[in-house]
Amino acid sequence: MINDIERVLISKEILQSRIKELGWQITNDYKDKDLVLICILRGSILFYGELAQEINLPLVMDFMAVSSYEGGTHSSGVVRIQHDLVENIRDKDVLIVEDIIDSGLTLSYIIENLKSRKPNSIKICTLLDKPEHRIASVAVDYVGFEIPDEFIVGYGLDYKQVYRNLPFIGVLKSTAY
Ligand code: IMP
Ligand code: MG
Repeated sequence: MINDIERVLISKEILQSRIKELGWQITNDYKDKDLVLICILRGSILFYGELAQEINLPLVMDFMAVSSYEGGTHSSGVVRIQHDLVENIRDKDVLIVEDIIDSGLTLSYIIENLKSRKPNSIKICTLLDKPEHRIASVAVDYVGFEIPDEFIVGYGLDYKQVYRNLPFIGVLKSTAY
């Protein structure tokens, strides 16, 4: 698996220290709120687990699975909900935790969908942002790292469902496609 990686873009140590900072920021911002932390499966799972531990507040954890890639390296733009939230988010303060925003198509679909459920607020926290590739504009409230327009894997992110368990973010060799 490691042989398919061209280079490490963000190490585990750097990921962890940045996630700590995001956790402090969110802890400050949500002191008097009714926080529901939403994990967008499957890519966000490692980030979500780490981030939740750095938020020093009572919160509710819920999960949503969507698909937009159909296994390739570019968003198809067609978003499907594969697993919906269990909680009712009406009047709650929703924080969506994403792995990466690329075209923005997936997230803008999710935001519109969740808005219709009348939460008190919706904010976005993404570990990675690839702003060069944006098609749908989304207002992102918390960003871990801005990255260049390269296809990356690890720390939750996959290529054809593999590499999610790598403990760092790396660039995939083009021979691995
Ligand atoms: P968007 O709809 O183009 O913003 O794509 C968002 C989703 O595409 C993310 O939640 C990821 O699952 C996936 N994605 C985007 N860029 C990458 C990448 O470089 N590596 C792996 N998955 C990616
Ligand atoms: Mg994803």
